[in-house]
Amino acid sequence: MNIAVLKGDGIGPEVVNEAIKVLNKIGEKYSLEIDTKEALIGGSAIDAVGIPLPDETIDLCLKSDAVLLGAVGGPKWDSMKGSLRPEAGLLGLRKALQVYANLRPAILFKELVSSSNLKEEVLGIGLNLLIVRELIGGAYFGEKGREKIEGGYRAYDTIEYKSSEITRILKTGFEAAGKRNKKLTLVDKANVLESSKLWRETAKEMSKSYPDIQLNFMYVDNAAMQLINNPHQFDVIVTENMFGDILSDEASMLTGSLGNLPSASLGDEKAALYEPIHGSAPDIAGRSMANPIGTIMSIGMMLKYSFNMDKAAEDIENAVSRVLEKGYRTKDIISEGKVLVTTKKMGDLIVNEI
Ligand code: IPM
Ligand code: MG
Repeated sequence: MNIAVLKGDGIGPEVVNEAIKVLNKIGEKYSLEIDTKEALIGGSAIDAVGIPLPDETIDLCLKSDAVLLGAVGGPKWDSMKGSLRPEAGLLGLRKALQVYANLRPAILFKELVSSSNLKEEVLGIGLNLLIVRELIGGAYFGEKGREKIEGGYRAYDTIEYKSSEITRILKTGFEAAGKRNKKLTLVDKANVLESSKLWRETAKEMSKSYPDIQLNFMYVDNAAMQLINNPHQFDVIVTENMFGDILSDEASMLTGSLGNLPSASLGDEKAALYEPIHGSAPDIAGRSMANPIGTIMSIGMMLKYSFNMDKAAEDIENAVSRVLEKGYRTKDIISEGKVLVTTKKMGDLIVNEI
């Protein structure tokens, strides 16, 4: 398997290094030939060649079987113009790979119930929900701009979706729900937004072809509240790009930390992209303090979705679970009586359990 590795900025390189160790261990266990090649993205690409997404990076990703990414961005590049910001590199890559379906599972390891800020009775046991986020449309990619007007500026971003873009992501949502608890919630703002109305109409129409899936609708403001109030009511949430960005950060806190959540971004043809949902966390970069679990679990998703290796993916999940059971924690998930470990140590412990 050919894997493109884009470490990016901040804690990106640290968490990716641990994930690669895990991948190599899986390679040993299952006698895989793994070829990893690195390329630049984000701020580190800006520093090296002046732009956040060099052509060589896109080329490498397009000819790889899968892409592993750390994180991009940092204060050093915050003052740069929109298209030259590190984040533009990530968005450009998602677009180039046409990965419209971003799967963000929020799974609470039972060992981490006490790491969450939420009460145990709300979290319950076996919390496991999946956010299916549309990734290459909406306000992130719609027409945007700024013009000078009297007294200042006028700035705008546009949320725009075509039926075909809605249908393909809803299909991902229905199919994912079909493999899980058969409940799909479309989160939107159909009481205000025209694009949301089209999502709802499309979903209602499509649901006729998925008679065994229970489809319901929820406004995004209510969904934000319900995620905290009663997270167990959800199985699969499907939603547009920006709502998915926001709700997945929120859902991560149900699992104890943003550092725990992996993601898979899938399209129909090109290589899929795997990355933790967290950012580059420049405040803790370079100190081996970051939680590598989200990135390591992203390797699990890669094995499952790009290589159909469900068993190996399970090995990773079980290894993480056992390390947590033994009481090891990075700083973001530490609680009383547990053992604080570095990013590197957490990676080594997980490798040892595989
Ligand atoms: C994420 C991140 C990105 C996004 C940023 C870094 C552009 O927050 O993957 O959730 O908004 O998609
Ligand atoms: Mg985000």
